[in-house]
Amino acid sequence: MAKVVSGLIWALVLAACGPVQQPETAAPFPDSSQPEAAVPGAATPEAAAPAGSSVLDGVFTARQASGGETSFQQVCAACHSITEFRGGRFRLAWAGLTVGDLFQSISTLMPKDDPGVLSPEEYLAIISYLLRENGYPAGEEDLPTDTSALRYIRIVAGA
Ligand code: HEC
Repeated sequence: MAKVVSGLIWALVLAACGPVQQPETAAPFPDSSQPEAAVPGAATPEAAAPAGSSVLDGVFTARQASGGETSFQQVCAACHSITEFRGGRFRLAWAGLTVGDLFQSISTLMPKDDPGVLSPEEYLAIISYLLRENGYPAGEEDLPTDTSALRYIRIVAGA
């Protein structure tokens, strides 16, 4: 009899402990809900396009960057100093992502008081300016307005 009772007690103890929920494990597939999110390495440029390049390859022109400098002064400098987007801070935020991600963020979120107000060409010029200020080299061709092509240009740390 004592054995049966203690067995019952164990059963109750187990039943009480069993259903405790672990909130951390509630979302078994955290990534699957965000197919649009940039997942570094998930779809590497190399895998999708053999011609995938990086910001080290001269992906904007000097002319495009100086146009971007003018726009930055006119539009962005009201709230930002260029020093916010240089060096370690820039790399920490953007290395591992692509120029497409940078374009997507800036063109949809900035300027903060009127997001999306500039043309794609103006946003691209500003991005060229940011790349130039980070020491990446200018080249022969402008950053393309084709946003899918921008997704193949990786932002890498070394410059
Ligand atoms: C009216 C003020 C304002 C203007 C104008 C503005 N920004 Fe911003 N920006 C902000 C604020 C505030 C943040 C911080 C994030 C937030 O609150 O959305 C921010 C964040 C950012 C970020 C992300 C933070 C980081 O350090 O990486 C980038 C990049 C950026 N802005 C770029 C630009 C560019 C490029 C322009 C010009 C086209 C611009 N901003 C114009 C206010 C502004």
